[in-house]
Amino acid sequence: MSKPRRLEGKVAIITGAASGIGEATAKVFAENGAFVVVADIQEELGLKVVASITAGGGGGGPDDHNLNHMMKAIYKKCDVTVEKQVKETVAFAIEKYGTLDIMYSNAGIMGPVGSILDMDMDMEKGFDRTMAVNLRGTALCIKHAAQAMVERQIRGSIICTGSAASSLGGVGPHAYTASKHGLVGLVRSAASELGKHGIRVNCVSPSGVATPMATENKLDPSKIEALNCSMVNLKGIALKPKHVAEAALFLASDESIFVSGHNLAVDGGATVVDNSLAMMRQRKQ
Ligand SMILES: NC(=O)c1ccc[n+]([C@@H]2O[C@H](COP(=O)([O-])OP(=O)(O)OC[C@H]3O[C@@H](n4cnc5c(N)ncnc54)[C@H](O)[C@@H]3O)[C@@H](O)[C@H]2O)c1
Repeated sequence: MSKPRRLEGKVAIITGAASGIGEATAKVFAENGAFVVVADIQEELGLKVVASITAGGGGGGPDDHNLNHMMKAIYKKCDVTVEKQVKETVAFAIEKYGTLDIMYSNAGIMGPVGSILDMDMDMEKGFDRTMAVNLRGTALCIKHAAQAMVERQIRGSIICTGSAASSLGGVGPHAYTASKHGLVGLVRSAASELGKHGIRVNCVSPSGVATPMATENKLDPSKIEALNCSMVNLKGIALKPKHVAEAALFLASDESIFVSGHNLAVDGGATVVDNSLAMMRQRKQ
């Protein structure tokens, strides 16, 4: 028996969908019946994601003949730091698919790694850039998606990608950690205002995943994965983009209909478990 499609006929924008977690989520959402706008600055990769989704068959659900002519996914170039482009991406989704049910603000960068003593504050590549992509970019996605949803009285779902660095220090660079902590505050604040419109705003916070961001396109993904595994509490499984996508699917779907302002950790307990006592006891034995 085939699995039920949990986003049948829904329209979603996913930023940062050309790679990693966003790419996996675009595929999972489409498999679950959603129409997906793949929004990213990497055009070639974005188009590849669209091609792989559309190769899986076009159109909406089997009973919806009006939807069958529509592409399951479309690429839209969108730099989340540029307000005009975010606004245009929302307008594009509505023009192509007629509505907007889900905004997944996922685009992010790691930014520079280094000591706070000589932190790079550069607007183009330092602290401000990390903030511009990770936090300001998310604020723009929430703003424009919520505008469209409120205007059309859509009880939508807005999801953002946080991180283990949303609740812990020391697991990411300083600007990255600040941006991801800020993101949780932004999610809660937006949830507080948008609740009266029936719009839910949540956050999904993974621990390390061996995506191009984590490997910087040069490190061996299997080594990064092994390192990630050694750092988390839950053993015997490596966190993959698909696992994060499944958590985003839950937050996008009606299965989480009364969940809002939540930071859903997908980290095998990494941010809530401290094993130092057990390790100390083990050392004493
Ligand atoms: N990989 C991890 O270990 C990890 C852990 C926790 C959280 N995250 C978060 O997951 C999200 C996705 O990252 P990923 O690991 O899939 O990395 P990734 O590099 O594979 O994907 C990030 C995508 O964001 C896009 N992007 C970057 N700047 C952009 C901009 N200005 N406008 C639009 N798109 C832009 C990139 O082109 C890329 O396609 C990020 O927010 C990241 O902080 C990742």
